[in-house]
Amino acid sequence: MTFLKKVTIKGTGSYMPERVVPNSYFEKIVDTSDEWITTRTGIKERRMIEKGQAMSDLATLASASALQMADISAEELDLIIIGTSTADMLSPSTGCLVQHRLGAKKAVAFDVNAACPAFIYGLAVAQKFMQDGTYQKALVVGGEIVSNRLDFKDRSTCVLFGDGAGAVVLGHGNGLGDGEILSTDIESDGDLWHLIHVPGGGSRLPASHEMINEGLQYVKMQGNEVFKHAIRTMVDSAKKIMSQQGITSDEIDWFIPHQANIRIMDVVAERLGIPSEKVIVTVHKYGNTSAASIPVALDEAVREGKIRKGDLVLANSFGAGLTWGATLFRF
Ligand code: COA
Repeated sequence: MTFLKKVTIKGTGSYMPERVVPNSYFEKIVDTSDEWITTRTGIKERRMIEKGQAMSDLATLASASALQMADISAEELDLIIIGTSTADMLSPSTGCLVQHRLGAKKAVAFDVNAACPAFIYGLAVAQKFMQDGTYQKALVVGGEIVSNRLDFKDRSTCVLFGDGAGAVVLGHGNGLGDGEILSTDIESDGDLWHLIHVPGGGSRLPASHEMINEGLQYVKMQGNEVFKHAIRTMVDSAKKIMSQQGITSDEIDWFIPHQANIRIMDVVAERLGIPSEKVIVTVHKYGNTSAASIPVALDEAVREGKIRKGDLVLANSFGAGLTWGATLFRF
């Protein structure tokens, strides 16, 4: 019988670009209003990078902050996973670039491309490798620079997203009170790939003048359809891991849903029976930051003193793929 080692979150970190883009910015470029965006999404403003910033810049800053909280040096890391769909380059992975920037010489580094739940996917992969003792200290980042994938002529997508990065450092638990990742669930349904996708820039439609003239480098989304699947998948995934662990929703101290739309977050919390005062919300100030959404919200809640050692936290997410997933951990 193999004993699974306890995997705990030793530190959290995040980095949000300094440029604040309020809803009023979009009123000037598309037919929209602050009132429409606020009532339909809950978003008031979002952060966007300055020209020249790339995913590894944001990820490196978020990671440095998580390493500092964990009191672990980059040289000690043996695993780096970056959850992102907006890598610096098509190759190599942003993981390798972050490894280089941090000086994490002995780590193996790679990316997980799973859209918004990529952080949960990364956590699941790290958890498995650490539970069996393959790796001892891991860095998992969720980050995205969605702003340069947005068509600023398409009002149904450009108002929704923002940039950012969040990170956690994982280690093995040293006994009671040290927290533990109890469960992770990751799922996908490729039949629904077309609901959110970026058609151009990959091997199907490589970069070309025609592709760019047609705007195929931008996010295409059927928002209404995504909305329905988001609620179903987030509720199912959260219920699945709670039941696996024999935990009921009244035992949850904090709920971190994917910060895509306050209406989705409210319905999911209600269907799970979690009261609004236990829901961590950042969507009003950051919009949908895709893979960054959960680790950024987690880091802010920890630094604000909301999430404390020993608290039971549920987080879940959904996104392009479709992909979805949930995690339950004692911080
Ligand atoms: N400003 C003003 N009107 C807008 C608008 C905007 N920014 N975006 C869309 N509209 C219009 C539509 O064109 C439509 O007009 P019509 O009735 O004349 O055709 C009307 O608003 C209603 O559109 P609809 O799509 O039904 O609105 P909605 O209430 O579903 O809200 C979303 C749209 C995108 C906010 C919502 O569907 C959503 O959040 N979906 C999930 C998307 C998501 O989270 N994606 C990321 C996954 S990680």
